[in-house]
Amino acid sequence: MSVRSTSDVRLRPYALGDAARLAVLLNDPDVTAMTASIPYPYALSDAEAFLSNVRNEEGRKVSRAILADGALVGGVGLGPRVTGDEELGYWVGKSYWGQGIATQAVALFLKQLKVEGIGGPLHAQTARNNVASQKVLLANGFIFAGESECITPARDTQKMVSNRYVLEAL
Ligand SMILES: CC(C)(COP(=O)(O)OP(=O)(O)OC[C@H]1O[C@@H](n2cnc3c(N)ncnc32)[C@H](O)[C@@H]1OP(=O)(O)O)[C@@H](O)C(=O)NCCC(=O)NCCS
Repeated sequence: MSVRSTSDVRLRPYALGDAARLAVLLNDPDVTAMTASIPYPYALSDAEAFLSNVRNEEGRKVSRAILADGALVGGVGLGPRVTGDEELGYWVGKSYWGQGIATQAVALFLKQLKVEGIGGPLHAQTARNNVASQKVLLANGFIFAGESECITPARDTQKMVSNRYVLEAL
């Protein structure tokens, strides 16, 4: 369904000045509903709290802003989940969907993890009906590893039926 491909996709660490942009892009239920941990509505204070954690917590340093043609359009990161595994998560602002941005951003992120000495396995989960996200994972070498119920901390820990994926080695 890609209508065009954005070739200039890059990653960079988050900056405190990203809060307003994050609050605009993430205050969108079509983006947050497919994630387990991003709340909706998403206020400036949510963005500020995220950025303060992402910059200070040791375990959160592997989160990156996604840039397309120089503009911040999404995020990708590894975070600890309830299972104790490190899990890959990512999102792209809705007006940027279908341009190959997430597929390229995840590829760049995996390369970066490898350089940092993270070898895998890496885990990821998508809602069962999140075809776009499943394609992003499969295009980046992840393999379907079965279904499970995923807890969504951002939505009163409601359970979401999800597909699990694993990448054994980077
Ligand atoms: C999932 C998401 C990150 C994909 O971002 P994106 O930049 O649009 O993804 P890409 O453009 O790289 O597309 C990946 C593939 O999905 C396909 N795709 C994109 N949107 C689609 C849709 N709505 N339905 C079906 N396929 C879709 C693309 O055509 C592409 O397939 P291809 O490789 O066969 O061409 C984005 O939709 C999003 O942020 N969704 C909400 C948050 C989310 O789901 N995060 C992941 C949680 S696990």
